[in-house]
Amino acid sequence: MIQFKNISVSVDKKPILKNITFDLKPGQITALMGPNGSGKSTVALTLAGHPNYQITSGQIIFGKIDISQLSPDERANLGFFLASQSPVAIPGLNVKTFLWQIFKKFHPDQKTSLSEFRSWLAFESDTLGIKSELLDRSLNDGFSGGERKKMEVLQMLVSNPKYLILDEIDSGLDIDALKIISLRIQKLAQDLNSAILIITHAPKILEYLKPNQVLVLDKGQIKKSGDASLVQKIIDSGFNS
Ligand SMILES: Nc1ncnc2c1ncn2[C@@H]1O[C@H](COP(=O)(O)OP(=O)(O)O)[C@@H](O)[C@H]1O
Ligand SMILES: [Mg+2]
Repeated sequence: MIQFKNISVSVDKKPILKNITFDLKPGQITALMGPNGSGKSTVALTLAGHPNYQITSGQIIFGKIDISQLSPDERANLGFFLASQSPVAIPGLNVKTFLWQIFKKFHPDQKTSLSEFRSWLAFESDTLGIKSELLDRSLNDGFSGGERKKMEVLQMLVSNPKYLILDEIDSGLDIDALKIISLRIQKLAQDLNSAILIITHAPKILEYLKPNQVLVLDKGQIKKSGDASLVQKIIDSGFNS
């Protein structure tokens, strides 16, 4: 389990999050909602360990240890996976090569050959609606918003994630792609008993990935929390009711 405990965060000395507390439990889905600029991505980047996000008070507890000072790489080794709101392009980094390197890092004992891996990748890409030519290109280079989001899903499939942090994975996806991707993420999380944190301001994705807990952020603070019924209240009345 991960406990985000009384966390306050500043970026460039500017306070953004104030006293945020929540848990992420294996097998559970947490939805983090809130209007633009409320601090959702700041929570995601703080969890992932972005160096510009300074924890000014509070702790991130993993099991029983405080991991607030661990680097993003050390957190990835613990099973943290951040699907970024705006995945960056990396010209020169071939998608297939990149995914194979991640696969080998997270499956050091597996005897999967490169050709078996490529067959698996072709199958998964096809299921996710990723054109095969994209796999031969540089990562996200010239990719559409939706194609970048699908690439994030491929990366999570090879990373053995225990804590999936999905920052607006739904933005840029059409309605059919959203369903396909949501169901694939749900299966992955079930197979690995992973915790999921879904960050969104659009409730549609929560029809497929039904949250156990819902948190609503406003101006860097948790304004409301509850179960899945809170989503319907937000649909009916917006964030400001
Ligand atoms: N690097 C930064 N420098 C200054 N302000 C920032 C920085 N990153 C985020 N912020 C501010 O923090 C607030 C929360 O941003 P963010 O976490 O991206 O919100 P959300 O994801 O909910 O839209 C916003 O007011 C944003 O302008
Ligand atoms: Mg954001």
